[in-house]
Amino acid sequence: MSGSGMDALELSGRVAVVTGAASGQGRATALRLHRAGAAVAAIDLNAEGLATLGDGILTLALDTSDPDRVAEAFGQIEHSLGPAYILASAAAVWAGWNSIVDMDYDDVERIFRINTFGTLYCVKNAASQMVREGRGGRIIMWSSIAAARGQAGDIPYTGSKAAIEGMARPLAAELAQHEITVNVIAPGAIDTPMLGAADLSFYDTVLPGRRIGTPDEIAELVAWLCSPLSRFVTGAVIPIDGGVASINGPWALANTLHQLEPDLVARMKAALYDDR
Ligand SMILES: NC(=O)c1ccc[n+]([C@@H]2O[C@H](COP(=O)([O-])OP(=O)(O)OC[C@H]3O[C@@H](n4cnc5c(N)ncnc54)[C@H](O)[C@@H]3O)[C@@H](O)[C@H]2O)c1
Repeated sequence: MSGSGMDALELSGRVAVVTGAASGQGRATALRLHRAGAAVAAIDLNAEGLATLGDGILTLALDTSDPDRVAEAFGQIEHSLGPAYILASAAAVWAGWNSIVDMDYDDVERIFRINTFGTLYCVKNAASQMVREGRGGRIIMWSSIAAARGQAGDIPYTGSKAAIEGMARPLAAELAQHEITVNVIAPGAIDTPMLGAADLSFYDTVLPGRRIGTPDEIAELVAWLCSPLSRFVTGAVIPIDGGVASINGPWALANTLHQLEPDLVARMKAALYDDR
């Protein structure tokens, strides 16, 4: 990186492990940290997606909810690149909207196993290397604004993300003495495959900025959290959502009701904007 203030985000000599790196926000993060000079190890289940990251990034195809494979992968990464200084743990799944009445326990178990336990396995391995090395570190975990706001039909995913926010605080408290920061980012709607077949016109209607976010916007926040600029920020849950967590009124209501009433988006759009 050269010129125009970007040097503060320079990460040469740092080893960064990014999970969920084959797609969306994890992918954008892996590329951003690589551009900042970090030696990046990219982990995902999806080997094909990892292969698109290009040269210069170490890729490891594995399931982060398998504790043995995670431990093995961190050993491999240390052997190839050196001990982890950064963990950006984005891997997660979302299972769509489901009423408590129709809840499938296999889905619940899978969501918690990947989103919560898988994240914790990566954190344990990364933190162990960071503490042992004694040179500090940066741990960034992914929650969602869902964890702070109730969305009907989003029960296990919301619980799995709230658990991440809960774990971040004792982690931050324990690891601060080692100059390791632990922060959580809580994205709003971001344009990635996770949104699947979601009706994007809904988001364009009800969000304060009338658009969803981009993976690159997330990656910039992660890069800052990896840099010396953020060294006194730890235990924080940082919304990055274009203002969604700050709103109330018809938008907040629509967020819950749109699953129940398909016409709602069109009617809200007409009422709020079309007559202007
Ligand atoms: N997209 C959104 O609107 C949104 C909003 C809030 C929070 N989030 C969170 O952002 C993070 C990134 O998601 P995204 O939007 O980039 O979605 P995405 O689906 O594009 O990426 C998720 C990646 O995780 C990988 N993955 C899933 N299970 C895995 C496992 N067991 N082992 C290894 N890799 C696995 C997938 O293969 C995929 O590449 C997630 O934690 C997600 O919960 C997303």
